Amino acid sequence: MQRRLHCKSRSTPCYDQISILRGFQLRRRPEITARTIDGRAIAEKVRSEVAAGVTNFVDSYDVQPGLTVVLVGDDAPSAVYVRGKEKASREAGFNGQVLHLPSSTPEVEVLATVHRLNADTSVHGILVQLPLPDHIDSDLITSAISPDKDVDGLHPMNLGKLLAGSPGFIPATPLGIQRILLEEGVELNGAQVVICGRGSLVGRPLSVLLSQRGPGANATVTLCHTGTRNLASITQQADVLVAAMGQAEMITACMIKPGAVIIDAGTSRVDDPTRKRGYRLSGDVAFKEVSQVASAITPVPGGVGPLTIAMLLQNCLKAAVRATDAV
Ligand code: GUN
Repeated sequence: MQRRLHCKSRSTPCYDQISILRGFQLRRRPEITARTIDGRAIAEKVRSEVAAGVTNFVDSYDVQPGLTVVLVGDDAPSAVYVRGKEKASREAGFNGQVLHLPSSTPEVEVLATVHRLNADTSVHGILVQLPLPDHIDSDLITSAISPDKDVDGLHPMNLGKLLAGSPGFIPATPLGIQRILLEEGVELNGAQVVICGRGSLVGRPLSVLLSQRGPGANATVTLCHTGTRNLASITQQADVLVAAMGQAEMITACMIKPGAVIIDAGTSRVDDPTRKRGYRLSGDVAFKEVSQVASAITPVPGGVGPLTIAMLLQNCLKAAVRATDAV
């Protein structure tokens, strides 16, 4: 999976496949351009649903739902994501807080912070931003979060429930990808879905989510990873291809079945001296060339990312409702 696959000619990607899709022989450069899926617009819809839910919740219970995000250290992309989560949560009416701990914070102190938040009844949702500094065991911290406040869906109890088909909290990015596919009217029932990347935040939980029975699921899912042989021969079968490997632009046009729907869950910083900040954000998919083969594609930025935040808020509202109903 590490090698980026190129078509024989980068400027004419897989036109033989495009011609099959269109049902005629192409003699000149085709004008296929995939629809760019507007993740921001879908996220906005989810966020306004959540904001309405928060208003209802506050009216009913006279309690403001609370989300606390714990950020340990100075990882620059993490700081950006956390700021986004804080801003979005406040805009939706949550009491959104960020606890920023220095990177030298001992593991035991991070653990104590989680225990304190577990006991705080004004906090309904807890998220510890990953990755954590090397001296901290992420699994230990994630497992210490109360499953009832685990709005990230990464606690073993919630992952187990997902596997058992009776979900508690589902990780936000897989949930966001499913919402994109539902909003876009992509038929998943019986579809071939190929997911590249078996990470615990996206690929693995998504493979379970989309292979369950039910709307926005019931797909035949193949999970590819670094041990996968002949990756392109598998991705070429996909009606829906999800790229979640964290390898910039690794999915190229010749790996795509014509007309496939492409979901790009990768975000990498790629050096770019032409940009003021010295880098640009890149997805796992070579957007331009894949757009000439696919029927729809999520951009980076502006695709999956905004949904991750929106679904986190949805999970947090659910946590607040459950906590209050349980009293
Ligand atoms: N880092 C990148 N994405 C995520 C996420 O969805 N949850 C957490 N906790 N950390 C992340």
